[in-house]
Amino acid sequence: MNIFRLQLRFLIPFVVTLLTAAVLAFHAFDVLTEQWFTKDMHLRSRLATTALSESVSSAFEHNQMASLSELFTRATQEERLTAIGLCNPEDDLLLTTGSYPEGLSCQLAREISHLSLPYFHAKSVVLHVSSESVKLRSGLKAHVVMLHDRAYVERRKAQATWYLIAFLLLLGVVIAAIVAVTTQMSIRALMKGIRTIVRGEEFSLEDKTHASRAFPSEIAADVRARLRELEDDYRRIHDANDTWTAEHLRSLLRTQLRGEQVIVLSNREPWVHEWENGSITTYQPASGLVTALEPVVAACAGTWIAHGCGSADREVTDTEDSIALPPQAPSYRLHRIWLSDEEVDAYYNKMSNQGLWPLSHLAHVQPEFDEKSWQTYVTVNQKFADAALAEARIPDPVILVQDYHLALVPQMIRAKLPAATIISFWHIPWPNPESFLICPWRHEILRGLLGSSILGFQTSHYRRNFIDSVDRLLETRIDHEHSKILFNGNETLIESYPASIAWPSEETSASERNAEILRLRASYGLAEECRIIVGVDRFDYTKGIPERLCAFEHLLEQSPDWIGKLVFLQVAAPSREHIQDYQSLRQRVGQQVAAINKRFGQEGRPAIILLDRFHSHAEINSLYRAADICIVSSLHDGMNLVCKEFIAARDDEQGVLLLSQFTGAARELPEALGINPYHIEGMVSALRQALNMPKSEQKERMASMRNTIREANVFRWAGRMLGDASHQRLRLRIAQRVQASHTGQ
Ligand code: F6P
Repeated sequence: MNIFRLQLRFLIPFVVTLLTAAVLAFHAFDVLTEQWFTKDMHLRSRLATTALSESVSSAFEHNQMASLSELFTRATQEERLTAIGLCNPEDDLLLTTGSYPEGLSCQLAREISHLSLPYFHAKSVVLHVSSESVKLRSGLKAHVVMLHDRAYVERRKAQATWYLIAFLLLLGVVIAAIVAVTTQMSIRALMKGIRTIVRGEEFSLEDKTHASRAFPSEIAADVRARLRELEDDYRRIHDANDTWTAEHLRSLLRTQLRGEQVIVLSNREPWVHEWENGSITTYQPASGLVTALEPVVAACAGTWIAHGCGSADREVTDTEDSIALPPQAPSYRLHRIWLSDEEVDAYYNKMSNQGLWPLSHLAHVQPEFDEKSWQTYVTVNQKFADAALAEARIPDPVILVQDYHLALVPQMIRAKLPAATIISFWHIPWPNPESFLICPWRHEILRGLLGSSILGFQTSHYRRNFIDSVDRLLETRIDHEHSKILFNGNETLIESYPASIAWPSEETSASERNAEILRLRASYGLAEECRIIVGVDRFDYTKGIPERLCAFEHLLEQSPDWIGKLVFLQVAAPSREHIQDYQSLRQRVGQQVAAINKRFGQEGRPAIILLDRFHSHAEINSLYRAADICIVSSLHDGMNLVCKEFIAARDDEQGVLLLSQFTGAARELPEALGINPYHIEGMVSALRQALNMPKSEQKERMASMRNTIREANVFRWAGRMLGDASHQRLRLRIAQRVQASHTGQ
């Protein structure tokens, strides 16, 4: 219907313009032909008069008008000439042929003859009048009046119009035929071009002239990107029909991967053991990676290899540096890797977090690289790879390599275990190719990652950035249609798999929830009517903490009614504390909070409560449940799982999520209020909108987001990767069998 209306909007003006142009053209043609044929008759009259002039002159000289009468009558036998009249020099009408009209005097005839439309309307006919002078021998002038029937002009005009119409029709047919043939040819070239682009092939020389003219390389890349995005959306919607659970994932491992060994590698360990006042305590670090990975490793009963960073980590591990986890209900094994302080500083603080981290995030912190840190990064990556090789009991285990700390590990493992299925996942953004060029060891990092069987990114945008970086820097074969890169004989599938959380198995009852909220309010001394905004982050400059506090300050400034009735609870878990940029951020936020509290805090009631310590999941969940608003204002974030955890915690379907448009999660959660952390006034409006949002609207938005995340949970994230891995393994086995049968083995 809309398309029909849209077409009418263009069609009606087009038809009106066409008709107007046709009417004007025909009118112009009519005027033109009228002039032509009038002139033609004038010419004829003049010729006829010239032919008669000798006879007229002699008749006047010898006064023999009777002979002229006969001559004139003969002349009017000619089809178009109706009548002739002869005027003497005194303008008396001396002679006329039979049908000369009454009332047309010599003088009137001469006057009409000078008009642009020289016509005389006789009784039943319109006559063209031409009065031509004839010089007599006496030196005086007589006039011959020639009258032509105008019907002749009309006939000729009608004839000419028909010729014109016929010509235009013929022209139309010829043009239509030419357009049809060229369109057909263009469509063929276009379709061929699209097929070539979709397959990700280069244009052949012969095609280049046509197809590549229609598809310069940027457009080709864009078409491919759009197609991939459509495919991603399709997969997201289609896959969402199956609810993934831990059991679902286990059965995939049992059936499709036939219970094969699963080894996971990450820098960050899922549980840290610390000495505290003479006894050992455990906690889970604030980490999106841990949130996503632990339920998966638990479901697979796999082995997790990670850096043991806790002060009591060694005390609790066995002789193989391993420990069964999680502490309450062990279901997987953690194998800890030990690193010296120097190694941690060079590999973790410097190369990973002062180099690759700012390189990958658009947060305006300059990446720093140095040779020594790089060398240590190589050494530590080799340590992780060796640990994985030592763990492998079969030649083709499934190995999951996590994040930017371990970019070289896939290639290191591939070199020793060529049949392993290595699934790498890059949890943070992948920079655009221009930014990636900054890294002095860009080739090594790409080669390292291309040792993977599957390389996953959070969004299709990062996936594309990676492929573009490889395209720029390495000699590889890229199959854009299947999103695969062939390098050094190894094929890597490059895919996007949005990371997520495990959906809670139980919902809390309303009474439990209320009691929990009351406890939390009491612990922070919050009055009953006080509304709560929460932010939960690592203390990281990519998270946009100063920006959101600034928006909060503006809100209180502009709407003082909220002072004392609104509190901001900001959890900021200590992170990467040895790095200068992180220390400066902590200091800056501390000062900012103090200044805002000084302006807007009241006795015993600060406007902002900064919680800069580790919090357990239970504590964070209470905060989520008590919050009116949860704000995620990252300047750049690969995915961000805080927003997903907030949604999962809100089984009351209340609460408003403010979500930065620069997070990977924003694409999945259009029901959140989108914010730009660089636009403080925009964030203030969003906060105001959230504070005034009716409960019914909160419910509508929250229910929809909960449906999305319940389906797009972490088991789907892992399930899709493992599913793709099992397809790959199956294809490989079939190919090996076919090859074996060909070689007769
Ligand atoms: O989000 C990127 C990331 O490295 C995650 O993979 C990890 O969970 C988080 O940052 C925490 O960082 P770190 O391990 O340095 O504490």
